[in-house]
This record gives sequence, C-alpha cells and structure tokens, in this order.
Amino acid sequence: MAAVGSAVGLGNVWRFPYICYENGGGAFLIPYFVALFTAGVPLLILEFTVGHWARSSPPEAFKKIGKKWEWVGWWTVLIPFVVAAYYVSVMAWCFSYMLYSLDLRWGANAEQFFFKTFLGMTNSPEIIGGLRVPIVLGLIVVWMCIFVILYKGVKRIGKVVALTVPIPLILLIILTIRGLTLPGAMEGISYYLTPDFSKLANANVWLAAYGQVFFSLSLAQGIMITYASFLKKKSDITNNAIITALADAGTSFLAGFTVFSVIGYLTVSQGFGIDQLSISGPGLTFVTYPTAISLLPFAATFFGMIFYVALLTFGIDSAFSMIEPITSGLHGKWKMSKAKATGIMCIIGFFASLIFATGSGIHWLDIIDHHIASFGLVLIGLVECIVLGWMYKIYKLREHANKTSDVLLGRWWDFLIKFAIPFVLIIILILAIVENITKPYGGYSWYIILLGGVIPVVGIFLLSFVLMKIKGKEEGV
Ligand code: TRP
Repeated sequence: MAAVGSAVGLGNVWRFPYICYENGGGAFLIPYFVALFTAGVPLLILEFTVGHWARSSPPEAFKKIGKKWEWVGWWTVLIPFVVAAYYVSVMAWCFSYMLYSLDLRWGANAEQFFFKTFLGMTNSPEIIGGLRVPIVLGLIVVWMCIFVILYKGVKRIGKVVALTVPIPLILLIILTIRGLTLPGAMEGISYYLTPDFSKLANANVWLAAYGQVFFSLSLAQGIMITYASFLKKKSDITNNAIITALADAGTSFLAGFTVFSVIGYLTVSQGFGIDQLSISGPGLTFVTYPTAISLLPFAATFFGMIFYVALLTFGIDSAFSMIEPITSGLHGKWKMSKAKATGIMCIIGFFASLIFATGSGIHWLDIIDHHIASFGLVLIGLVECIVLGWMYKIYKLREHANKTSDVLLGRWWDFLIKFAIPFVLIIILILAIVENITKPYGGYSWYIILLGGVIPVVGIFLLSFVLMKIKGKEEGV
C-alpha cells in the first residue's frame, strides 16, 4: 500500500496526461507500456528483492553487495530529497488553490492569476523576486505534515496510507464521472487517445516513456528498497511489484480521462479548438483546469475543492516517501533516532524549497525537474543494473525473490537486468545528452543549466562519496 502511495502522485495526474498528449497521444501508450514491462516491472522487482534481502536502508544494502558500493545507496537516497524540495512546493500551490476554490479566486483569467498574481513570476531565473507569502505558508503546512507522519516510524506510515491511497482514487473517479458527462468530453478524450504513429520513430518519444516510468514508479530513488526492507520475511515480492506497477499505470491512464474530458468541455463551451490551448505541465493543473472549473454549470466550488484535495492526498504519500530513504540511511549508519533524523531533514528541506517560493521558483523548478528526472534517474537506474547485475551474482537475487513469490522469475530476468535494460538506458542517455548539448533545455543560458541542472546532479554524486567515507557508528567503536 505504501509503495503504491509513493508511486501514485502528482506525476500521474499532471505529468502523464501532458506527456502522453505531447508524444503522440494514443500512440504513446505503446512505448509507455513497453517501458513499463521491459524496465519498470523488472527493476521494481529488483529493488523490492534487494530491500527484502538486505533488510536495511539503501546505503547498507549496497554495502552488503560490496563494501565499495555504499555510495550508490547514498546517491539513490539523496536524489529524492532534491525532488522533494520542489515537489512540496507544487503541493503548496495545490494547498492555496484548494482554498481559492472556495470563491473561485482566479476569476476570468486563470493564466494571469496563476503566473502574475499568485507566483509573481519573474522574466528569467536570474531575477529571484520576492518570497510569496501564501506559498511559504503552504510549504510550512506540508513540511509539518511530512514530519508528523514520519517521525514515529513505519507504523504510522501504514495508518496514513490506508487513507491517502484510497481517498484520492475515489475523488478521481468522481471527477472522471463528472468530466465524462459534460458536453464536449468526447472531443477531449479523442484528442488524448487518437494515435499519431509517426511519432513512434522519434527517439525522444521513447526517452519520454522511460523517463515517465522511472519518475512515476519512484524507481532508482531508494524508496522501493527502503519500503521492501520493512516487508515481512514471507511476503510475496514479484506479485507486490506487479500490483504496484499496474496500480500506478492504471491511475495515470484514468487521470488522462479526468483531465482531458474537462478540457474538451472547456474548448466546446468557449468555442475554440483544443490545439489553441497552451497545455503545459503546470499550466494544465493550475490554469486550464481552474478555467474549466469556473465554467461548470453547478457545484463549481465543490469540484474545484475535491480536485485539489485529490492532488494533495495523492501527493503527500509520495512526498514523505522521498524523505524516508535518507532518514533510514542516517538511522542505519549513525544510529540517529528517527525523530531527530526526520526533524533535521524536514528543516533542511523547508529551507531548500524556499527558492521555489520566490518569483523565479517556477523557472528553477522546471530546470531542476528536467535534469533530475531525465539524467539523474536514468543514470542511477543504469548504475543499479550494472552494480547488481555484474558486481554481484544476480541469480542469487532471483532465487531470493522466487523463494517467496508465486510468479517465478526465469533466466530472462537476469538477461533484462544485465543486458537489455542497461543497453536501452545507455542509448537513451547518449541521445538525451547530445540533444541537450545541441539545444540547451528551455532555451536557458548555459550557466543557468550548469547551476540548476549539472551542479545538483554532480554535487549529489560527490556528496554520496563523502557520506560513504565518514565513519558510521558501529564502525567507529
Ligand atoms: N512517483 C511520484 C509521482 O508520480 C513522484 C516521485 C518522483 C517520487 N520521485 C520520487 C516519489 C521519489 C517517491 C520517491 O508523483
């Protein structure tokens, strides 16, 4: 349940529909499902197995694989901490928008309201701008929630996810029914699902599919290893992994219907074509959707509220699962108490996320998200496959998974981890690097990319070596 909670999040509700639409609509489902079954599920099984086998946090788990590999574990737990800094700020936006739904505060021009009035967006990332008070208040609320949920340890997580997994799903279903019964819904849906097969020849579409699967399944970020370490000895590993992956993909697919049905209604009621809308990640959830909400014939406030409550409850279990791996790591190596480790990380996290509460926040969010989600995750996924597949006897892990699982893994799984997945990931990385060098992301200048993209990825990599070198508690005695 907690793994599903971590996987299903904002990534399903705004990222998936938009990525799908941009990369060929219905045709994108082909690379998406190929990526899901050739890389997503096998890697999820791998991470669950490692966690269950090592019964410890990622740094210690990699240390068990080989002493010199501890840094890989630190690397995987530091990345989601950076993701958390901006993910929480998107949740802070949701928090404000939940309250704004009460009086449909965005008015007639939701775009103007979001970028100018709410974010106070500056013209470029260099111009920092002032702190936005409503966002800072939202950050405080969300970070406090994360602290309260985590500091008592894993039992409380179990109780929280029993609510935060089903509630947003029910809300999403209500919203989908509302969306599909609006005039124009079918236009939106056919826009979402009509395949454009010519896009399948484009390498970037495949890149987007693998990136989305990694981000959405929370892969290569320590969390699945950490959660699996809490499983009972007899738990079925492979089944759990398959269920988690299908639940995640199913929610994304459903969210596409929720969002696009409402967009269809928006265009029909305003009398223009869908292609005239600017559908972009943040815009979709904070501009297009609120505009459509205002036009609803009745109960606009109600549907607006439940949309943002759904986003918040979808997001919270992903957000705290980004902090859990690093606190587990600190607890494992330095025997720091869970409460202390959580407190320290939440305070650092809060200050780190303040940059995203400034007028330049959305620029930095965009740059850091792009580099962490495409390079960071794919790179770590690759390193995981190499270290676990080549530096350790992968068949031992397979036998470990098979001991408790109904679905038995064959040699094909070893082949995927050792050859097929690394091969695909290397190609993707090379293509992505070439593309980003020839065309800097978002047209930003090179030093902005260096600051927001290269330095976080490389910095975290170096920091993980430092953490490995510092002596742990039991080593020091
Ligand atoms: N999978 C989450 C979502 O779809 C987001 C996410 C990205 C995440 N990286 C993570 C969650 C790391 C937990 C840990 O919204």
